[in-house]
This record gives sequence, C-alpha cells and structure tokens, in this order.
Amino acid sequence: MKILMVCLGNICRSPLAEGIMQDKIKQHGLDWEVDSAGTGAWHVGELADPRSRSTAKLHGLDIDHQRARQFRAKDLQEFDLIYAMDSSNYQNIIRLAENDAEKEKVAMIMNEVKPGYNEGVPDPYYDNDGFELVYDMLDRACEKIVEKYK
Ligand code: 4NP
Repeated sequence: MKILMVCLGNICRSPLAEGIMQDKIKQHGLDWEVDSAGTGAWHVGELADPRSRSTAKLHGLDIDHQRARQFRAKDLQEFDLIYAMDSSNYQNIIRLAENDAEKEKVAMIMNEVKPGYNEGVPDPYYDNDGFELVYDMLDRACEKIVEKYK
C-alpha cells in the first residue's frame, strides 16, 4: 500500500499526516509506504513549518527529515490512496486525474472519520493555535485508515 498525503504547501498539515502515518505503519509492522506533497510550489525543498515540527516532537514524532515537494499527475499512477486535507486540495488533485480509476484513489482524509461530511482539516498556517487540532484530527484519521486497510 502506498499512501500520499496532500495539502496546499506541504509544510504544515500533510507533513504531520505523513509523520503520524509513518509512526502507525511502524507500530503495526505494516509493509506500507507514505509520502506527502503540496498542490502549490511555493515551499518546494523547504523543511516542514517549525510549528508542525514542534507539534510532532510534542507527540514523540520526528519529521525534521521531510522536504516539501509539489504534487504531480504521476502521483495518481504511483500511489494507491491519495488523501486531500481539504476540498480545495481535493479539487486540484482530481483535476489532474486522467481516468476514473485515478479519481477513485482520491479522498478527503476526514471522510475516514466522518464519512460523507467532507470536513476539511483547517489550514493552520495563519493560526498559531491550530496545530494541535490538526494533529488530533490527523491522528484520528490515520488510525481509521490503518484499521480499514491493515
Ligand atoms: P499547508 O499550509 O497547506 O498545511 O502546508 C500552508 C502553508 C503555506 C501556505 C498556505 C498553507 N502559503 O500560502 O504559503
């Protein structure tokens, strides 16, 4: 199973999602891979936002090795599951899909917790207090994903 976590900048939300999922993969001894990307290119090559990195550390996770990259159409072929953090990310990914099989790989991540609600993970970039909420939401979603597919 290859999972890709996608947000806008690939510096706040999806790096946390990648780190949380990587930890669960390890905990459960799963033969899965996880990566993350952003639909935008502004932060390509950068470390994750310091606030995401410190939030990860508070929970015992180290995401300091991650570097931002941009989502590309080829990801729709290479990954089995592609999780968008919000509806804008979702639309931007779907726009690049070439067929229904690729579209079916794409989902909004919080629909794994509350199916059909299309709830977005709030962008914490302009909100210093949002990172802990983002962590909590993503931890719940990743747990559901592991239980569903393991
Ligand atoms: P992310 O947050 O999509 O969770 O990585 C953002 C990071 C950067 C920007 C927006 C959102 N930005 O506009 O630069």
